[in-house]
Amino acid sequence: MAVALLVAAGSGERLGASRPKAFVVLAGRPMLEWSLAALRAAGLEEVVVALPDGEEAPAGCAGVRGGATRSESVRRALAAAGRAEQVVVHDAARPLVEPSLFTRALDALSRADCAVAAAQVTDTVKEAGPDHRVTATLDRTRLWAIQTPQAFRRAALERALDVGDDVLAAATDDAWLVERAGGSVVVVPSTPANFKVTTAHDFQVAELLLRERAPAPDGS
Ligand code: CTP
Ligand code: MG
Repeated sequence: MAVALLVAAGSGERLGASRPKAFVVLAGRPMLEWSLAALRAAGLEEVVVALPDGEEAPAGCAGVRGGATRSESVRRALAAAGRAEQVVVHDAARPLVEPSLFTRALDALSRADCAVAAAQVTDTVKEAGPDHRVTATLDRTRLWAIQTPQAFRRAALERALDVGDDVLAAATDDAWLVERAGGSVVVVPSTPANFKVTTAHDFQVAELLLRERAPAPDGS
């Protein structure tokens, strides 16, 4: 069985709400509850939540204090997890995740150390210098925008996280840490619908989309 690490310890500076982003009420529930419901629907029972100061873990989850960086929060949550051989990491800031994405990422561990949800890039991507002069146009058919969930063979994730704080701070996703440790990583096709709530605009879009899924006021 797999353990899920739900990283929710960020402050949400870019959203600019009055409390940490994962705990802001979105379509009737604290944002992290949407991801938690998707994890449960995927059959993931053990969940460790990395928390910001002053917030409690939701019922049925273990909680740990998060770290100064995202990957430090992952490392702390993993240290608090039971003995599961597979680990799936998810951002509380991606409340639109579908349960099937967790199972597809975990299934892909049969052929790699790590499997990451990703959406094929639809824009043309160019490289430019500080003077804005374009130096290259990348081959879009090979480009993927990386999301969470990210699933790992536990031993590979533990080895990947066994690095200095400077390396950890430079990681924008945990799969990169596996890559630099020599591990294999595959992408699991996802869609832009699983976007990360970063700005107030993202929040408004997520609110509109999730309102349709919201539970009735009596909780049914
Ligand atoms: N996260 C975390 N610990 C940190 C930083 C981030 O657990 N030290 C989590 C966030 O709670 C979020 C996910 O990592 O679920 C993705 O991070 P991001 O979207 O950048 O969230 P914040 O760091 O909260 O937002 P901001 O960067 O705007 O402050
Ligand atoms: Mg952040």
